[in-house]
Amino acid sequence: MRKLLVTGGAGFIGSNFVRYAIDHTDSAVTVLDKLTYAGNRRSLTDLPQNRMTFVQGDICNASLVHELVRGQDLVVHFAAESHNDNSLRDPSVFVATNLVGTYTLLEAVRRYGVRYHHISTDEVYGDLALDDPNRFTESSPYNPSSPYSATKAGSDHLVRAWVRSFGVAATLSNCSNNYGPYQHVEKFIPRQITNILDGGRPKLYGAGSNVRDWIHVDDHSAAVLLVTAEGKIGETYLIGADGERNNKQVVETILELLGKPHDAYDHVTDRAGHDLRYAIDSTKLRLELGWRPIFSDFTSGLAATIEWYQANEAWWRPQKAKTEANYARQGQ
Ligand code: NAD
Ligand code: TYD
Repeated sequence: MRKLLVTGGAGFIGSNFVRYAIDHTDSAVTVLDKLTYAGNRRSLTDLPQNRMTFVQGDICNASLVHELVRGQDLVVHFAAESHNDNSLRDPSVFVATNLVGTYTLLEAVRRYGVRYHHISTDEVYGDLALDDPNRFTESSPYNPSSPYSATKAGSDHLVRAWVRSFGVAATLSNCSNNYGPYQHVEKFIPRQITNILDGGRPKLYGAGSNVRDWIHVDDHSAAVLLVTAEGKIGETYLIGADGERNNKQVVETILELLGKPHDAYDHVTDRAGHDLRYAIDSTKLRLELGWRPIFSDFTSGLAATIEWYQANEAWWRPQKAKTEANYARQGQ
């Protein structure tokens, strides 16, 4: 039985990953999560409690991190400040968690010789023109735009330096935009779904022509488990499911699935420095490790996600009003 420490396991992707790992392996999971505004203990309450230990704490707390890392077989590091809009309002916590937190974990896995997997984003590569025939690959140059993506880029560099300088046994993955259950209502897709469920309208930044490359969170989890089992130490794997769509198309699909007119949305103030397009070429992951996405039909994955938000209002309701008040202050 593998002993697995998952940081950020009460967040969107982390909680889905913990559920996936418990379902698909015999791992004993310890979750370390600070329970910031983005963490939710309720995202883990349906899991068998004999398979999972929950520890509330900060990845920047070196003594706690050392105590938890010691004796593990693997650390999978999801914990982060993850929202671009928040990073424009207050970058300081992004520097602390994404950079200092990653540094703290790296020092612990180095000390105890524990294998480490680093979760990152395609946003470290900056953005692409809408008509660029190329997509991001593992050799694309780093060119982050926002405080969020800059701190994620910095954390990737720390991991590679700890592999090369200190022989830490680490792998990295950079994934495109995830969707699915348990995603905070500040993010694009849950915000629009819950706006409509609340009797309001979707809010599209600018013209809505920005493109994101959507992947279901379970496909991300499967890829991460595969990389931790079969990936080569020091290597980076890009994770993406060929899911490019512009934001206007996504909003129109959500409206259609909820039986509303396809133009019943509002245009709001655009994000400063808004990245135009992300797109991932995941050939390396597919050819070297044999990964394939299961959720190849975005519309049915989105329909299932909508059903989850309809059935789980008690999960998202407490965060909704405050999130919308923050957006309203910025004209969004
Ligand atoms: P999220 O904001 O939903 O969850 C982050 C979790 O980390 C929360 O549970 C929060 O409480 C916890 N956390 C924050 N600061 C902490 C700290 N100092 N110590 C301990 N725990 C802390 O984020 P997410 O969308 O699930 O993203 C998870 C990871 O995946 C991040 O590293 C993110 O950069 C990466 N990623 C996200 C996406 C996406 O589409 N959401 C895509 C690619 C990569
Ligand atoms: P988001 O979910 O914040 O992810 P990211 O910034 O990491 O891509 O946003 C996805 C896209 O949706 C991005 O182009 C910004 C846009 N967006 C809106 O148009 N309206 C919204 O209310 C939000 C939150 C995002």
